[in-house]
Amino acid sequence: MEFRIAVLPGDGIGPEIIDETIKVLNTVGIKYNHAFIYIKGLVGGVAIEKEGTALAMDTLKVCKQSDAVLLGAVGDPKYDDPQAPIHPEDGLLKLRKELGLFANLRPVKVYPALVDNTNFKPEVIRGSDFIFVRELTGGLYFGRPKRQWKTTRGRRAVDTMSYSEQEIKRIIRVGFEVARTRKKKLISVDKANVLQSSRLWRQVAIEIAEDYPDVEMEHMLVDACGMRIIQNPRYLDVLVTENTFGDILTDEASMLGGSLGMLASASLAGVPITGNRTLGMYEPSHGSAPRRAGQNLANPIATIISMAMMLSYSLGLVKEAKAVEKAIEKVLEEGYRTYDIMGEGMKKVSTKEMGDLIAERIGE
Ligand code: IPM
Ligand code: MG
Repeated sequence: MEFRIAVLPGDGIGPEIIDETIKVLNTVGIKYNHAFIYIKGLVGGVAIEKEGTALAMDTLKVCKQSDAVLLGAVGDPKYDDPQAPIHPEDGLLKLRKELGLFANLRPVKVYPALVDNTNFKPEVIRGSDFIFVRELTGGLYFGRPKRQWKTTRGRRAVDTMSYSEQEIKRIIRVGFEVARTRKKKLISVDKANVLQSSRLWRQVAIEIAEDYPDVEMEHMLVDACGMRIIQNPRYLDVLVTENTFGDILTDEASMLGGSLGMLASASLAGVPITGNRTLGMYEPSHGSAPRRAGQNLANPIATIISMAMMLSYSLGLVKEAKAVEKAIEKVLEEGYRTYDIMGEGMKKVSTKEMGDLIAERIGE
């Protein structure tokens, strides 16, 4: 089969990790007889530099006309000044909003090979395997009013955590659908003891649960969830939460996997039901790591796992996705590590070597 993939390498280590991901994807194409057509575009700091905007309309059009979008990372310290009129991150947020990517899936998995390689006790984290379903186009990120202004008594700023019933319903449904493909246990994360948006969230979750009698739902307050992630991560399976809570909890949870360089992410425009192909954008959860850029050091695994998610959610290639996941596991079991997951007695490899090793093991 033939697929059109929009490729947006972005800033910092983005281009390097994307190159390795494409290397692995090309191997999948050869082994399983698919043609992947890549259409490259700019996003983030590089787009500001060359096109004067963090995401040009043409790039957005290319994304809309593709089967999936593969993204590296955005962010450049040059634009870190909070006063700057445009930020590289604006491109990412625009892509999410304009492509309607409301559901962000972030799997957290402790690979047996990396269990001794984290800041946690191995016996606490061993076997942890859960997934976040993060709402991605609402809440504080997009709610209005959103502004800064001057008053006679100093400056003020406001962001708005706003959710409609519709927005909550569709993300809760994604949570239930994902739970159905796993242990049939869903944790809905909110702050219903304080926030109105969370009270609506919880009510809607209870209503939607009636359509999923086969799935057991539990409500968990976000602060307790932050604690549970590091106290007893094996307790978790599928968690559904609003945008900002999900942003914070997923970075926290990534540490269980040994590095943010292991945390993949799929942002979907539809409900992921098996056999249903939906437009999605696939990117690692980490940033552009500008200090590591151009050194052939960065860990490409999060991006490669994201690409595997693309194979199954947007292209319907489930067997191929499994082959990519297997190849990653093999490489880790054989002791190969990028700097960020390096451990005693392991073999340290570069970005490119990691890409080669994974590609060589596809379909083995
Ligand atoms: C993420 C990132 C983004 C977010 C930033 C880069 C805007 O942290 O994908 O988690 O906050 O959503
Ligand atoms: Mg984040």
